[in-house]
Amino acid sequence: MPVDILVGTQWGDEGKGKLIDVLTRDVDVVVRFQGGNNAGHTVEIGDERYVLHLVPSGVFRPGVKCIVGNGVVADPVALQSELDELDKRGVDTSNVLISNRTQLIFCYHRVMDRVNESGTGVKIGTTGRGIGPAYADKMRRTGIRAIDLTAPERLAAAFRTECKKYNAIFKRCGADELDVEAELAKVLDAAKKLAPRVRDTVYIVNAAAKAGKNILFEGAQGALLDIDHGTYPFVTSSNTTSGGACTGGGVPPQSIRNVWGVIKAYTTRVGEGPFPTELFDDCGEKLRQRGREFGATTGRPRRCGWFDAVASRYACMVNGVNKLAVTKLDVLDDLDKIAICVGYEVDGKVTDEFPASLAELESAKPVLDYMPGWKCDTSKARSWNDLPDAAKAYLKRMAELVDSSVAIVSVGPRRDQTFGVEI
Ligand code: GDP
Ligand code: IMO
Ligand code: MG
Repeated sequence: MPVDILVGTQWGDEGKGKLIDVLTRDVDVVVRFQGGNNAGHTVEIGDERYVLHLVPSGVFRPGVKCIVGNGVVADPVALQSELDELDKRGVDTSNVLISNRTQLIFCYHRVMDRVNESGTGVKIGTTGRGIGPAYADKMRRTGIRAIDLTAPERLAAAFRTECKKYNAIFKRCGADELDVEAELAKVLDAAKKLAPRVRDTVYIVNAAAKAGKNILFEGAQGALLDIDHGTYPFVTSSNTTSGGACTGGGVPPQSIRNVWGVIKAYTTRVGEGPFPTELFDDCGEKLRQRGREFGATTGRPRRCGWFDAVASRYACMVNGVNKLAVTKLDVLDDLDKIAICVGYEVDGKVTDEFPASLAELESAKPVLDYMPGWKCDTSKARSWNDLPDAAKAYLKRMAELVDSSVAIVSVGPRRDQTFGVEI
């Protein structure tokens, strides 16, 4: 059963959208398996630039089935407006389906997200899309699922109950209460439009796998934002790692063939939380400007730093990454020397293991190895042989340090700025 998974191996924004679009040339079905519209996946085709939040990044390949899986939390109003926007730009969205088991995000989750972030507790720096509260409702067993988009009366009753319950909380903590009927009208409008797309996608995906079709699971966020393996509590609320594809898409572990790990040639992070290799100097600013490191969802400037091999080795181990796609190599083009973090110094001791302890991560001093830069333009490279020796050495070192092999190198945002390698 040819099922591949693609995940981010850092703190998100590694270039997953671009890689999904590239790999989908040879794929029949793409499945998003977790997260929600906190994701911002950019795909550039010719002069057109698209940022996808819930719609799988396979949507630009005609005939590819694009499934919003059961592990996703989907805001129906946001999803419908994303589909409308794509339709307006001439993208065929007729193959986008939603699992009937997908949990839904509503306005009260978004307000709750804001309330949580503005209270006295830990500020995570969330995207404000209601992700955490929606997953909390799923686990609390009070969530509303996409299957209810096909039954307006049941949907309305469940929405009214939940919205009133949340309004009581908002009242207690001084937040504005929601107008239940006005919000319900927006939800029912989106439900009517989305209902024909709601299916039992678990059967669709398993039938496709059995028929030998190529299936690609699209991860959102990154391994270090995983609820179990990330820098808790500064994480998102889902399993972003490859194991999440089985639960979030309904396929058995034996069906998995390859796990693609998308890895940026340096590191970025948006929101709060520890980031041992973060740069606060001109070099960090240079990476931000050259890499256009501004959030695809919220527009926030991304924090930038050196490639962190300790964190990414942990990520590759947990994900079982056997194929790396290194992105944004071109962003390093004009640096004299490039650092790689090969260990953390914590309490005077050097470790190459990624600590679970927040205190250790926050105090970790990166142990840096320096490599010479290549000081030339790689954005026009179209094969391994086009790369300068120093860039080849850098890629080999990345692969060695994370204990995996590089199969794709990306030197720009466009489809053609991508090539296969074997290192
Ligand atoms: P995702 O969330 O992992 O899909 O990544 P984002 O779309 O949030 O951020 C990646 C950004 O880098 C986007 O603006 C892409 O167009 C861009 N990008 C992807 N690959 C490359 C590359 O190899 N070089 C450069 N310069 N930009 C890239
Ligand atoms: P893609 O798929 C980068 C971060 C937020 C915040 C934390 C929790 O584009 O890589 P949430 O709204 O999920 O509760 O926020 O996770 N975050 C991302 N950072 N890329 C993303 O998605 C992200 N999705 C969430 O900034 O720190
Ligand atoms: Mg992104």
